[in-house]
Amino acid sequence: MKNINVIGLGYIGLPTALMFAKSGIKVVGTDYNKEIVESLNQGKLSFQEEGLQELFEEAQANGVEFSTEYKKTDTYILAVPTPYIEESKKIDPVYVISAVNSVLDVCEKGAAIIIESTISPGTIDRHIRPVIEKRGFVIGENIHLLHAPERIIPGNMVYELEHNSRTIGADNLEVAEKIKDLYASFCKSEIVLTDIRSFVENDHQ
Ligand SMILES: NC(=O)c1ccc[n+]([C@@H]2O[C@H](COP(=O)([O-])OP(=O)(O)OC[C@H]3O[C@@H](n4cnc5c(N)ncnc54)[C@H](O)[C@@H]3O)[C@@H](O)[C@H]2O)c1
Repeated sequence: MKNINVIGLGYIGLPTALMFAKSGIKVVGTDYNKEIVESLNQGKLSFQEEGLQELFEEAQANGVEFSTEYKKTDTYILAVPTPYIEESKKIDPVYVISAVNSVLDVCEKGAAIIIESTISPGTIDRHIRPVIEKRGFVIGENIHLLHAPERIIPGNMVYELEHNSRTIGADNLEVAEKIKDLYASFCKSEIVLTDIRSFVENDHQ
């Protein structure tokens, strides 16, 4: 795992992309919102938070890139929205499904797709796996699927990214270990590995 395409440059995706870039990993951040990408390419942050400007500058010095296009890389981190639907009391996976499809259009063979968006493992089995399989990919063989939900709360995100513990859910321990090493490039706290369904009791789907 050498290069990362972070999909969705909002409150979670942007600082995550910057953290990896600061750690020396080659990162391209992708957002389909042209204005966000243009602003970042002009050196302007799309929002402010303590420590974010310094982090941005360090990531820029390490060559972080921003684009509206999905890139051919070996690792994808999805940080797209998962809105809560009031009537059904469910999380809408439509943005994640769309992003997964766009990743599958360009990804390298054997790439890892890491979902950081807030979804339940039930969503993975019900919605994400079928999308990937329908596209002819075999999960665990020519594509890997992981769930690494972001748990920070707004306000002190740069600090929390480095100091919160994380959980990575995967089908395959070997792949999970590689992704753990990747996050350990900036995460100073514990990173727990688990299977992809371990949060099933939190299933809202
Ligand atoms: N904001 C928080 O405090 C917080 C905390 C923990 C977890 N989360 C979770 O993280 C996820 C992302 O939340 P956020 O607050 O960063 O959202 P956000 O709305 O700030 O950013 C999402 C970005 O994704 C882009 N996007 C959407 N679909 C895309 C696609 N298919 N391709 C490329 N770009 C796409 C949007 O243009 C937007 O810029 C959600 O699942 C959310 O529940 C958020």
